Amino acid sequence: MIRNIRSFFSRLCPNGVITLFLTVFLVLGIAGCSFSHPKKTDTLRIGVALYSMDDTFISSVKQNLEQLAQKIEVEQGRKINLSFADGTSNQTTQMEQIDRFLAKGCDVLCVNIVDRTAAAVLIDKVESAGIPLIFFNRQPVAEDIDYRNRVYYVGSNAQESGMMQGQLVVEAWRKDPSQLDYNRDGILQYVMLEGEPGHQDSLLRTEYSVKALTNAGIVVEKLAGDAANWNRGQAAARMQQWIAEFGDKIEVVFSNNDDMALGAIDAWQEQEGHLPLIVGIDATAPALEAVAAGTLYGTVFNDSQGMARVMLDLALALSSGTDTALKVQDGHYVWLPHQKITQANLEEFYQEME
Ligand code: GAL
Ligand code: CA
Repeated sequence: MIRNIRSFFSRLCPNGVITLFLTVFLVLGIAGCSFSHPKKTDTLRIGVALYSMDDTFISSVKQNLEQLAQKIEVEQGRKINLSFADGTSNQTTQMEQIDRFLAKGCDVLCVNIVDRTAAAVLIDKVESAGIPLIFFNRQPVAEDIDYRNRVYYVGSNAQESGMMQGQLVVEAWRKDPSQLDYNRDGILQYVMLEGEPGHQDSLLRTEYSVKALTNAGIVVEKLAGDAANWNRGQAAARMQQWIAEFGDKIEVVFSNNDDMALGAIDAWQEQEGHLPLIVGIDATAPALEAVAAGTLYGTVFNDSQGMARVMLDLALALSSGTDTALKVQDGHYVWLPHQKITQANLEEFYQEME
């Protein structure tokens, strides 16, 4: 067929021009094929795959996405269609949900991946559909993200949140060590409630919260530590065992998130005895109430609203090919800052959030 086209045109123009023309014709033809995914409309269709809708922090990201999308629709006159899928902590289920999003057609896919190690397979899938992919909150390893086009991660630095949580305890210790050192041995005895095994936030928060103490020259002793999968009930159960085993020896409870810290408080409140110093991360509404009540010493703000805003800004920019004011680090990462919260700055924090 190409020969026929060439002989037809050779009668009209010289050879070099024909070759050039045919090359352009073929390249455009091939490129045209890769645009075979559903046509873009004025509506921005965003598929959002969540690892689990039972998770408190993730539910608040979802809620913020819904609210902000409505606001953008009013302010910018751009229709945004958000579809959510609940991965129920199962990677196979989430893959099927993503297949469905792609088959139905969407302009941008946002994924809160169940299993971080499954990212490469997922990226291949989305890449062949020709749409941008935004991971959030559950961070795939750098090798999966860094060498890909139109693949992003929106999240908070796990090490930073751990460090800040540790600093809360350092500050309390410096203010009055006798308040913390219940058995007066000069050593800080602690237990650690961990999130899901393998999650970047579990690993790095566990490590860096304690590092903040040892960096400050405080001698620590770990009594126990175990995974409670971000879950209040599981954390309460772990804590009950540790109370039975160590009782008042526990001076500090580090918890990788607020829900588990609240679980620890539940367990302590079921029995007599002094409440240790308990710290969480996320700044969920019930955790802030516990800070106000004095049962939770402090928490670290994990910005679910900021996360939702960045995801939508990025999705809008990517789908329309426009520039974004966001600071995209190394071409792939948008980081949200944390903030320490205790009773001392709680009012201020509430005001900032208004
Ligand atoms: C963490 C958060 C946890 C949990 C987890 C889910 O950033 O602190 O509460 O939501 O993400 O991936
Ligand atoms: Ca002690």
